[in-house]
Amino acid sequence: MDRLLIRGGVPLRGKIQVNGSKNACLPIIASTLLTRDTTIIEEVPDLLDVRTMIAVLEGLGAAVDYRQEQGLLRINSGDLSKTALPADLVGRMRASFLVLGPLLARKKVVRLPLPGGCAIGTRPVDLHLKGLAAMGAQFSIANGCVEGITGGLQGARIYLDFPSVGATENIIMAATLARGTTILENAATEPEIVDLANCLNSMRAQVVGAGTARIRIEGVSRLGGTRHAIIPDRIEAGTLLLAGVITGGDLTVEHVLPDHLKSLLAKMTEAGAFVEEVGPTAIRAAANGRTAAVDLKTMPYPGFSTDLQPQFMTLLALSGGTSMVIETVFENRFRHIESLNRMGAQIQVEGRHAIVQGRPYLTGAPVVAPDLRGAAALLLAALAARGETELFAVHHLWRGHSRLEERLSLLGAQIERVAEEPEGAIKTGS
Ligand code: EPU
Repeated sequence: MDRLLIRGGVPLRGKIQVNGSKNACLPIIASTLLTRDTTIIEEVPDLLDVRTMIAVLEGLGAAVDYRQEQGLLRINSGDLSKTALPADLVGRMRASFLVLGPLLARKKVVRLPLPGGCAIGTRPVDLHLKGLAAMGAQFSIANGCVEGITGGLQGARIYLDFPSVGATENIIMAATLARGTTILENAATEPEIVDLANCLNSMRAQVVGAGTARIRIEGVSRLGGTRHAIIPDRIEAGTLLLAGVITGGDLTVEHVLPDHLKSLLAKMTEAGAFVEEVGPTAIRAAANGRTAAVDLKTMPYPGFSTDLQPQFMTLLALSGGTSMVIETVFENRFRHIESLNRMGAQIQVEGRHAIVQGRPYLTGAPVVAPDLRGAAALLLAALAARGETELFAVHHLWRGHSRLEERLSLLGAQIERVAEEPEGAIKTGS
C-alpha cells in the first residue's frame, strides 16, 4: 500500500478547488438503477469509492462510461441482468447498500450481503429495512445476506427513529416508483439528500421537502434519464479550510457552497481563526494568531458534521486551552487519537467524549491512517508538525480525496507519495 511522506511546518497559501461531493455522488449513481434511460452525471470526483460504486452497477449489468479526467459519468441501466451483489463489493464500501431501494423498486427482488461492522462502528441497517418493509417489502436474513422481495412497493408513512442519511436515501429512491404517496418523517436533512432529490426530480420523480425533516414522495410509473451536476464536497472544503489555519497559512477554497459549512465556519471563528466568504462560492481561511480551545458536539446536519470532527480535533490539539469533543453520531470515531497522541497531542478519551489539552506544536512520526476522516486529520497534523511524518494506509484518503497530495503541493506542502515496493524487493535481516 502507498504511503505519504510529509515534511511539516510549511504554511499553505493560495487557491484550491474543491471536487464534487463523494457522499452526494454515491447515492446518485445508485439512483440511475431506477431508470432504463441514460443518465449523465457531471462533477464526479475520481475516488476509490466512486470506482467501487461503478463496479457495483456494472456487476448488476449496467453499461457505464466513466471519463474521470472530465468528471463525467454516463450510465445506462436498461438491462439489469442481476439483482445480487458479491460480498467483497459491499464489504469494501457500506454505501453499496444504497442499491437496495432502487433494485427493490425496479426489479422487486434483491440479494445483498449485509454491510456488517466497519472501522467507524457497528452501523446497522435496521432503519433502511424497517422503512422499506413499511412500503411492502419482505426481508429475510440468512448467511450474512439480506434478501428482499416485494409484489410492488406501496407508498407509506414512515418515521425514522434516527435521521439516518443512508436510510433516508434508500427510502426516497424506492418511493419514487412506489404506488401512491410516501411521507418520511424525521428524515436526514443533509445537502447530499437535497442533491439526490434534485437529481431524481430532474428524472421526473416527485420529491418535495428534501432538506427538511418531512419529505413527501409521490410515486410515478417510470423515471427518465437526465444530466445532473454533483454539488461541491463540503467535507473536502472543510478539510482544506482547516488545513489553511492549522498550518498558519492563508487559503482560498473555491467551488464551495458556504451555506453547507455554517457549523464549521462558526466553530472556526469561535476558535479565533480568520474566516471570510469571498464570493458566492469561495471561502478564505487564515491563521490569526494561535487558535483557542472550543467545545464541540457532532450532530446530524445542520449540526457539526461527524465527518469533520477528526480534522477539527487536530486544530484543537494545537489550540490554547482544553477542549471537549463529543461524538454522538458514530460510536467509534476516535481512532485517529492514538496517532495524534503519538505526534505529541494530549487527548484523553472517555467513551464518546474526548478531552483535548492543546499543545504548542506537534512532531512528525510514523502513523497509520485508521479510516478516511482519520487519515485527513493525521495529514493535517503532519502538515503542521515539526519534522517528517510517514502516513501509512493512505488508501483511506483516496476514498474521499482525489490527487490530494498533488493539489496540496501546489500550495507549498512538502508531500511525497511513495509507492509500496514490490514484495521481492523488501529487505530482510537487520
Ligand atoms: N444507523 C442505525 N441504523 C440504520 C442506519 C444508521 O442505527 O439503519 C446509525 C449508524 O450506526 C450511525 C448513525 O445511525 O451511528 C448514522 O448513520 P447514517 O445512516 O446517517 O450514516 P450513513 O448513511 O451510513 C453517511 C455518510 C457518512 C457520514 C454519515 C453521517 C455516505 C456514503 N456516508 O453514512 O460518511 O459520516 O452519513 O453523516 O453518505 C464519510 O464520508 O467518511 C462517511 C462515513
